[in-house]
Amino acid sequence: MKLSGKKALVTGSNQGIGQAIALRLAEEGADVVIDYVTHPETAAETVQGVLKLGRRAVAIKGDLSKVADTQRMVHESVQALGGLDILVNNAGVEKRAPCWEVTEADFDLVLDINLKGAFFATQAFVQHRMEVKQPGKVINLSSVHEDLPFPHFTSYCASKGGMKMMMRNLAIELAPFGITVNNIAPGAIETPINTQLLNDPAKLKALLENIPLARLGQTADVAGVAAFLASADADYITGATIVVDGGLTWNYSEQ
Ligand code: BGC
Repeated sequence: MKLSGKKALVTGSNQGIGQAIALRLAEEGADVVIDYVTHPETAAETVQGVLKLGRRAVAIKGDLSKVADTQRMVHESVQALGGLDILVNNAGVEKRAPCWEVTEADFDLVLDINLKGAFFATQAFVQHRMEVKQPGKVINLSSVHEDLPFPHFTSYCASKGGMKMMMRNLAIELAPFGITVNNIAPGAIETPINTQLLNDPAKLKALLENIPLARLGQTADVAGVAAFLASADADYITGATIVVDGGLTWNYSEQ
C-alpha cells in the first residue's frame, strides 16, 4: 500500500471522479475526508465505502464557492483526522452557454468553485502543513481544457487555464516547504458532469471519434493517477500536469 498512515481531504468526493479518488486513496491505506455540498446520502455512501476498506472516513459539508466555508471545512478536516497530508482539489462545475448569453451569476459560480475555491482550500491546507512543519501533496483536478479551447464553456476554460498557472506558481512557492503541487487533466470521463453529453447519442459519437483510444475514460483511470501523485513515488514531481484523456488532446488528422 502506497499511502499507509496518510490522511487526505478530497473536495467534491460524494460522486464522480472525487468519489473514485477517495476510495482509491483509502485502498492504498489513507484515511479520507469526504467533502460535499449537496446529496449527503452519496457522501454517506462514500464514507461507508472507505470504512469497508478498513480506513477512517468522515463526511464534512463545505461549499467551495464560499471562502469562509472552505476554510472551516479544511480546519474541521484537520481536526477530524488529526492532520492532513494530502489535499485533492476536485470539486468543479461547468456551465454551457454561448459567450454572448453567459450570466454574471454563472460566470462567478464557475470561477468561484473551480479556481478561487481550490486556491483557498490550498491556502488553508498549506497553513496547516507549515504549522506542523511537515511536507504535503496538493493535487488539482484540472481538465484537458486547461490548454484546449472548449467553445461555449469560456468560464470553465478560464477556470482551468487559471488552475494551470496557479499550480505552476504554487509549485515554486511551496517547494521550499516540501509541498508538491500537480494537476491531473482528465479528458472525457463518464461522470455526472457529462450527463447531457452521455444522453445525446450524436454528440457522444462525434466525441468518441476524436478519442484515439475510442472510449470514454472511467473514474478509475483518473483515480490511479491521483494515488500515484499522492504517494512517495511522485516525490520528485511538482509543477506538472498529467493528462488522462485517451489521446484526445493531440488528435488531429486530415482525411
Ligand atoms: C469536461 C467535459 C468534456 C471533457 C472533454 C472535461 O473537462 O468536464 O464536459 O466532455 O472535458 O472535452
